[in-house]
Amino acid sequence: MIIADPRPARIRSELSKRNTIVVLGAKGGVGKTTIAVMLGVALKIMEKKVLLVDLDITDPNMHVAVGVDPERVMPGEKKGIEPININGVGFISISPYAKGRPLPLRGEDSINALRELLAATDYTGYDTVIIDTPPGAGDVTLDILNLLPNPKLVAVSTPSKFSIDSLRRFLMLLRDTNRRPKAVVYNMVRNERIKPGINEYIVHYDEELENAIGDLCRIAWTRAFEEIKPLASQLI
Ligand SMILES: Nc1ncnc2c1ncn2[C@@H]1O[C@H](COP(=O)(O)OP(=O)(O)OP(=O)(O)O)[C@@H](O)[C@H]1O
Ligand SMILES: [Mg+2]
Repeated sequence: MIIADPRPARIRSELSKRNTIVVLGAKGGVGKTTIAVMLGVALKIMEKKVLLVDLDITDPNMHVAVGVDPERVMPGEKKGIEPININGVGFISISPYAKGRPLPLRGEDSINALRELLAATDYTGYDTVIIDTPPGAGDVTLDILNLLPNPKLVAVSTPSKFSIDSLRRFLMLLRDTNRRPKAVVYNMVRNERIKPGINEYIVHYDEELENAIGDLCRIAWTRAFEEIKPLASQLI
């Protein structure tokens, strides 16, 4: 007997009631996690009840950006997994369960892990959910896109020619599935002359940001944060 997976329906029902933002990108290391966290802090300052979700299942590291030690902190569980509260921002990740160990999950297993995390989370009190994804359009990212009812997509790239080339294909792939990002962020821009088009944003390389990683209050004082604020207000 085949039993239908009850998790997608629960995930859709919880997330369709909330402003759901998915941060994604073709390449690794372009700043997806950093941008997701900065958007979370900006929206929190705009009085939104923000939940940050790390769905980079095999290599989660949003805990570094928000300053949580996954070997010491464990989310509580009452009516589901209770998000960890960091300066008023909720945080959910698989990392506390992995306790710093690698997670060699593949295909079906990684999809199971992400569905479990999304379905078991207690979203009470949150109106905005920001999801960080792994690089590229692999199983996890595609499953997230299929699971979520019309999320706002934010695509991140650096201004490098390689990254922009990959971004172009990534956006084509999204378009093939009738999805259009709400915004594209060119991150870590140094001297490149990039003229942002409609729905495009520029965040410069900011040395101070690297020092601020792990401290949400410090992140909010960086130049990069100032540059992401206009996008945050478009995502409300
Ligand atoms: N605007 C910026 N200025 C300076 N450093 C930045 C900026 N944005 C991100 N970084 C740094 O770049 C590195 C990679 O960022 P991040 O981990 O957010 O990328 P990612 O796309 O999420 O990577 P992965 O694909 O591995 O998940 C981090 O050390 C981060 O602090
Ligand atoms: Mg990341």
